[in-house]
Amino acid sequence: MEKTLTQDQLTPENVDFLPINGTDYLELYVGNCKQAAHFYKTAFGFQDLAYAGLETGLKDRESYVLVQDKIRLVLTTPLKSGTEIGKHIDKHGDGVKVVALWVDDARLSYEETMKRGAKSFMEPVVDKDEHGEVVKSGIYTYGETVHLFVERKKYNGVFLPGYRGLKTSYHPSSVGLKYVDHMVGNVGWGEMKTWVSFYADVLGFTQLVSFDDKDISTDYTALMSKVMSNGNGRIKFPINEPAEGKKKSQIEEYLDFYEGAGVQHIAVATDNIIETVTELRNRGIDFLRVPATYYEELLDRVGEIDEDLEPLRDLGILVDRDDEGYLLQIFTKPIEPRPTLFFEIIQRKGAKSFGKGNFKALFEAIEREQELRGTL
Ligand code: FE2
Repeated sequence: MEKTLTQDQLTPENVDFLPINGTDYLELYVGNCKQAAHFYKTAFGFQDLAYAGLETGLKDRESYVLVQDKIRLVLTTPLKSGTEIGKHIDKHGDGVKVVALWVDDARLSYEETMKRGAKSFMEPVVDKDEHGEVVKSGIYTYGETVHLFVERKKYNGVFLPGYRGLKTSYHPSSVGLKYVDHMVGNVGWGEMKTWVSFYADVLGFTQLVSFDDKDISTDYTALMSKVMSNGNGRIKFPINEPAEGKKKSQIEEYLDFYEGAGVQHIAVATDNIIETVTELRNRGIDFLRVPATYYEELLDRVGEIDEDLEPLRDLGILVDRDDEGYLLQIFTKPIEPRPTLFFEIIQRKGAKSFGKGNFKALFEAIEREQELRGTL
């Protein structure tokens, strides 16, 4: 996926105008960040990293920053009524507000995306403390979700200026989550084109694979999905739009409960999905289950795999193959009261796709859940 260009191919069109080093952090606005931090540590194996709140001079909000390998989660809650954060939580429930992208030049990232039609969230600002300085800027994406550009080459503090290191006596072990593999957005009816164009034209992303609603439909629900990727392939944003089916699409259910477009799932990578999922289940994470028949046909569909079938079946781990290899994946149930945000655990063994072969089995599992919620 790495694009290599010879010197004479470096025309202005070929130069990535928005080089991104990776996902910097994900910030969730939540009803109770103190308790959410405990949940992400206990259940998902995150560790303390940083804190900002009353004790660091903030008056209106508190944030806990947790880390697991390259994944940083910021959990933020307002400390009083009537705040923008509070309104966001009232409307959407707990959810992802900021998808921060690590760049070398936050001013240029802002300039380049704004001149291509981005909607500003935050003009470039320089935050400083005794550990150096960080430049941040931000633009809106779908719904009320935001991309922040974070430039931290002159910073060696624990997270960002304004945060102090967080050290508690509670250190549940990691579950082996490594990095954000991809992050999926759900957008409204008829909005796919708009957001594919946004990532292509404004951020310079390219479309990776495409499948229409005929590829992803069950008897009842359907959706369209397109995957946008940045120049070096480190950032992958699949986008879903509901499609017409006999009953309500799971994407439509999300849009109803989130009250608009937003992040549907965060896929995090592991090097050993059997160990990771065993640990997550022991710590109370609920996963979607496919019927046992899925495993009867599995090896016919995907061919030889390194793993034994039995632990995969016991844990409900799914497998899919593409031209380059295969992948193992599993999806949690929503992690908040509204059927909105959930996590995917993924282990790639060569495959660069997203598990299209599993979508039908998966959607039927989601429909069984929707049935129980009375939202099918
Ligand atoms: Fe995914």
